Amino acid sequence: MFPDTFLWGSATSSYQIEGAHDVDGRVPSIWDTYCAIEGNIADASNGDVACDHYNRYREDVALMANLGLDAYRFSIAWPRIISDLSGTVNELGLDFYDRLVDELLSRNIRPFPTLYHWDLPQYLEDEGGWVNRDTAYRFAEYTEAVLGRLGDRIDTFTTLNEPFVSANHGYVTGEHAPGRTSMAEGMAASHHLLLAHGLAGERIRELTPHARLAITLNFTPVEPASDSAKDLAETALKDDLENRWYADPIAGLGYPTKTAEHYNWDQSEVLDDDLDLISQPIDVLGVNYYTRNVVSTRNVLRPADLPRNSMGWEIHAPSFGGLLRGLHSRYSFPAILITENGCPMPDNIRDEQGIVDDDRLDYVRSHLAEVHGAIEDGVPIEGYMVWSLFDNFEWAWGYGPTFGIVEVNYRTQERTPKKSARWFSAAAASNGFDMGDFDG
Ligand code: FCB
Repeated sequence: MFPDTFLWGSATSSYQIEGAHDVDGRVPSIWDTYCAIEGNIADASNGDVACDHYNRYREDVALMANLGLDAYRFSIAWPRIISDLSGTVNELGLDFYDRLVDELLSRNIRPFPTLYHWDLPQYLEDEGGWVNRDTAYRFAEYTEAVLGRLGDRIDTFTTLNEPFVSANHGYVTGEHAPGRTSMAEGMAASHHLLLAHGLAGERIRELTPHARLAITLNFTPVEPASDSAKDLAETALKDDLENRWYADPIAGLGYPTKTAEHYNWDQSEVLDDDLDLISQPIDVLGVNYYTRNVVSTRNVLRPADLPRNSMGWEIHAPSFGGLLRGLHSRYSFPAILITENGCPMPDNIRDEQGIVDDDRLDYVRSHLAEVHGAIEDGVPIEGYMVWSLFDNFEWAWGYGPTFGIVEVNYRTQERTPKKSARWFSAAAASNGFDMGDFDG
């Protein structure tokens, strides 16, 4: 059994599910622009319609209530809230989240909004995006507008989702919007994202003193493929960049110095007081975990028999437990919330109720078991949000990978819970993960 207060939730993000891309004053985001460029998205799709959640949110909240979920993590689309460079606030955009929050509360579902899940307004990218320090100040202004409207009903504000992915995929590898490819820009973007977190954190403390401050980071535990000096060195670099780059400065440890040097980052973007702002105490660390990374400097063929999801990511639950214990012993943040965990699977078996996804069910169950073990070892984990409530737009992969515990038929927009959703619902009801032979 989990502690009585344990939260059972699901997670989504604005661009991946909302659709309604040109409704009620929403302005273009970097993802609209990026999707329009041929070759960027595997199936040449975009988020114009997605799950049409903007129009169907009532039905979607009812679905969560039927599943018995306690919490819902969603993100707010900045391009719906601030219309232009001069900072014009779009009340119609705020109205949508106002309605959503009320709907959730009326169903006893705790809303966990994230302020930035990658959909930067295009007009800010036109000024340099996250490479431009000014974007961090814009983020704080946008945060203020959201706090003014929703602050009375929200108890936890999360600033950013996975800044590593924003900076790395967006500015270094180019596999995400805005599609730039420069290590130096990636470094600058990473610092300005953290600065944005710090500036927004100040506003949250000041304007909504009752609310908790959170940030969600993604972690991919690394293991060397061998004990060769090269593999060990490469593993350490990856660990710094992927697992410590954001958590260390937030915890007051500064940027991992050796790795900064290795990538020739002179930290010239880091101005006086920035690190103090960034390291103001957070209340909750959001943790996103999917897989581990076995690091090798040689081109070794990975053993074919490792279990993998449909995107090829290895499934290795013990790394999750190890990660959670490691995070707690290194940082001791007051609370940890699992803000994403889940997997895309083939979803090709059906019965009369819908998709029979025993593979996803096993993934969720085995990862919940790790969460449970970590709690027993004293890690303060307050809940688990499965990624994702719905099949949705999986960024550069388009609509191919299906992460949902609920299937979405994109032709009819019909939602059908998969077997994993029924299992998750039963697990939430029993506040545990071991319900014997679940035949639901
Ligand atoms: C995370 C993202 C989320 C989703 C999952 C699969 O990196 O935060 O939006 O795409 O991966």
